[in-house]
Amino acid sequence: MAKAGERLRRVELVQVGLRVGLAFPTAADRASYLRVRRESERHLRRWLGTAPGGPDPFSPAAFDRLRSTARGEGANRFLIRLIEDRSIIGAVDVGGIVRGAFQSAYLGYWLAAAHTGKGYMSEAVLLALRHGFETLGLHRLEANIIPTNKASIAVVKRIGFRFEGLAKRYLCINGRWRDHEHWALTLEEWASIRRRLGRRYFPQ
Ligand SMILES: CC(C)(COP(=O)(O)OP(=O)(O)OC[C@H]1O[C@@H](n2cnc3c(N)ncnc32)[C@H](O)[C@@H]1OP(=O)(O)O)[C@@H](O)C(=O)NCCC(=O)NCCS
Repeated sequence: MAKAGERLRRVELVQVGLRVGLAFPTAADRASYLRVRRESERHLRRWLGTAPGGPDPFSPAAFDRLRSTARGEGANRFLIRLIEDRSIIGAVDVGGIVRGAFQSAYLGYWLAAAHTGKGYMSEAVLLALRHGFETLGLHRLEANIIPTNKASIAVVKRIGFRFEGLAKRYLCINGRWRDHEHWALTLEEWASIRRRLGRRYFPQ
């Protein structure tokens, strides 16, 4: 147990906020990640993307896919960790990165049920935006949300994303092609969000 605590204290955070940080997943995170996901399966399953023919999102194979694609050209995928004890409370992806004239990506995120209602995801999404705009140099980041996912829509509204419209049968969620609302930000809009929220959330 002492060894596990020691390892956790050394986990490197790529983005650091007030209460949470973002870290790339490592092989050592496999068991904790799968436990956190399974404990929240009822809360998560109906909102999670499922690649047709791909692994079940709660399977060990899903973690292996997350890890093997976490630092790619096409995505940066992070675990959300409490700064206090470095425990894993969720994840956020900057995925579908397209360069060239687009310089765009989309965000995907989830939080363990026990850690909802505390503002952790709003902070983690801000950190993912900072990573996308300032580290990866992207111009546009979007979040695509099922219209009935009120908790997720509240997160993007709280930050200041702009509503762009509804895309029909946009993503495969829990085995069904579902309509999604597009919420987006460009670099120009990020500058004012950073001024408004950055001082509070990015202490360093
Ligand atoms: C979407 C999801 C991440 C949102 O989680 P959340 O806990 O509601 O979001 P936050 O962590 O930002 O917390 C916001 C809540 O904490 C409250 N809060 C408490 N302390 C806070 C603080 N210090 N700062 C900000 N908010 C705080 C807010 O008032 C808000 O509660 P409210 O909605 O009742 O007003 C979560 O519901 C989830 O994992 N859902 C399943 C997966 C999913 O849908 N993913 C997104 C797919 S598009």
